[in-house]
Amino acid sequence: MSLPFVIIAIDGGAASGKSSTARALSERFNLLHVDTGSFYRAITAELVRRGIAPENLDALRAALAALALGTRVEGRAARMEIAGRTVDPAEIRSPAVNAAVSHFAAVPDVRAALLAYQRGQAGVARGHGFRGLVMEGRDIGSVIFPDADFRFFLHADPEERARRRALEGQQDSIAERDRLDTQRKTAPLAIPPGATAIDSTHLTLAQVVEKISVLVAVKIPPL
Ligand code: DC
Repeated sequence: MSLPFVIIAIDGGAASGKSSTARALSERFNLLHVDTGSFYRAITAELVRRGIAPENLDALRAALAALALGTRVEGRAARMEIAGRTVDPAEIRSPAVNAAVSHFAAVPDVRAALLAYQRGQAGVARGHGFRGLVMEGRDIGSVIFPDADFRFFLHADPEERARRRALEGQQDSIAERDRLDTQRKTAPLAIPPGATAIDSTHLTLAQVVEKISVLVAVKIPPL
């Protein structure tokens, strides 16, 4: 009997622990790990490099229409390619991208340009023989995969999130990004109805992964 193809959606604010959790799940269950924040960041880096502002809708639309997006799978991670090249990981975490990404992500045209691309990651996962995918972001359980097998929403107190980012050496203004991501009109950061909310403030990464794994293991056995 073949195993089902499983989709796990993980949403949450900046530094909520989504990335580490998603990476650990991808390894435990052999799933493609799709960090959609890295997609918004890669596109932002490209637009910033071209000098296009989020307010400049005509230039933005023209640039989006011409972006040739692809996916490269490295280990268990999906990396966005733009015109056949992945964007330097240091660049997508740069202060300039940190400052701009929420502004670009609030533009409906940017979100629309990424919609089919994100859904298409299921095909990428199948093509590479994964047993499913774990996708993290802000609107995965609400917009991208509302019918996902599992939908989780991670949150943590702001002080704890600031502490985690500081440990990672990233001191960008998490609170400001969350404010922009929560208040935007299109696909704001919110707990989707029916999703399982997990408060990770007082949990270790291993404990969060365990909580989720217990549920997922009912559908597919861990490796
Ligand atoms: O997860 P992250 O912090 O790397 O995400 C960077 C930005 O991308 C975040 O501030 C908002 C945007 N984003 C989004 O709007 N929707 C997603 N599904 C993922 C990220």
